[in-house]
Amino acid sequence: MTQGFLAPSARLSSYFLPVLKENPAEAQIVSHRLMLRAGLVRQAVAGIYSWLPLGYRVLKKIEQIVREEQDRAFAHELLMPTLQPAELWRESGRYDDYGKEMLRIKDRHERDLLYGPTNEELITAIVRAEVRSYKQLPLTLYHIQWKFRDEVRPRFGVMRGREFLMKDAYSFGLDYAQARHAYNQMFVAYLRTFARMGLKAIPMRAATGPIGGDLSHEFIILAETGESEVFCHRDLLALDPLSSGVDYRRDLDPVIAPYTALYAATDEKHDAATCPVPAEQLLHTRGIEVGHIFYFGTKYSKPLGAKVAGPKGEDMFLEMGSYGIGVSRLVGGIIEASHDAAGIVWPEAVAPFKVGLVNLKPDDAQVTAAAEDLAAKLTARGVEVLIDDGDERAGAKFATMDLIGLPWQATVGPRGVKAGTVEVKNRRDGARQELSVEAAVNRLAG
Ligand SMILES: Nc1ncnc2c1ncn2[C@@H]1O[C@H](COP(=O)(O)OP(=O)(O)O)[C@@H](O)[C@H]1O
Ligand SMILES: [Mg+2]
Repeated sequence: MTQGFLAPSARLSSYFLPVLKENPAEAQIVSHRLMLRAGLVRQAVAGIYSWLPLGYRVLKKIEQIVREEQDRAFAHELLMPTLQPAELWRESGRYDDYGKEMLRIKDRHERDLLYGPTNEELITAIVRAEVRSYKQLPLTLYHIQWKFRDEVRPRFGVMRGREFLMKDAYSFGLDYAQARHAYNQMFVAYLRTFARMGLKAIPMRAATGPIGGDLSHEFIILAETGESEVFCHRDLLALDPLSSGVDYRRDLDPVIAPYTALYAATDEKHDAATCPVPAEQLLHTRGIEVGHIFYFGTKYSKPLGAKVAGPKGEDMFLEMGSYGIGVSRLVGGIIEASHDAAGIVWPEAVAPFKVGLVNLKPDDAQVTAAAEDLAAKLTARGVEVLIDDGDERAGAKFATMDLIGLPWQATVGPRGVKAGTVEVKNRRDGARQELSVEAAVNRLAG
């Protein structure tokens, strides 16, 4: 369906889609190569990218799915700035701990600022100033904002950038029970979010690392080319988080239990000698971390003094968690998980357009009228269409369509116009069908 925040259609002759015929030498992995070749991004400087129109549409769609599932889980969206005051990070003790990954900036008054690598301090400062009573809890807030981490070796394009788009949510509760419920809400929201993008995401118990804390899961999508080695029970692949609805107010332990009960570990933790899963049920593959959730209790609320008056009037420090999703990394991750020799194969939910409409003879008035008619019928049904009305030869047009990976291609040419038909091709399986205009519209709008 057309997404209201994106233009419903575009014409290649006047669009900005700089495709590359050759593989760029600087790209080591397939998603990076394809993102450059398909005109999705261009590098500004190491690890920092501009999003070109086609890539930006994908980024927006991913962001929107993330947003819808956060909202459904009772998280509330706000927007914090990219720049933060150093003082807050001195209060938590992380200003010095963070080291060279943090980009430090001085303003004209010589005040220390930083480009936020994450937002625990800033959100805690907002909540400590405004939330005074346990009656205002629990509360989960999130934003979708650019982060900066001065990675030593930015690589693999948007997968490990220095500037990257993250959804980060923060939960505030009165006690462990509230904090744990918020954690479970995010756990389930993540399962649904990645499933909606056509991904198999495996939650794995994780070491808690620099954010610290007691309980943590990484969400890893399976892709042969992923950064980490993954071992998991095959039954995890059969679980479908979208098969039933979820009530986020209820106890969610039973919803996450099927996932946490089955074995899953990255190579850091996996040990063949002690692995409980028999070899024939163990899947050994690779994966990409796309999300990470943490429960860390009062790690930030104590040093920052974030507390509320409890039911008996006593001071209680807030029980917190934080929950990240790599929105820009997902663009690369989805390509790693879904491509073939000809190019990208977008899952429908995140495709920049649903249909690529190829006009084989733009200088033929009849063919062009038929192509325009089809485009109008599709957009009227809410289908996003990219119309190739350029004058390249057919082979080049099809190669570009395959490269940019729209789920469907519809071809209008002189032969079809005479017969009153359109050729419809499915990008994923390559199946082609000659359909009447009406049948084509129904198929593509279905
Ligand atoms: N350098 C990066 N480039 C792109 N995405 C990143 C980067 N670092 C982290 N992310 C994304 O943000 C999510 C949350 O980050 P976090 O777990 O705090 O980072 P890390 O795993 O690097 O410690 C990660 O799961 C990942 O999807
Ligand atoms: Mg992580």
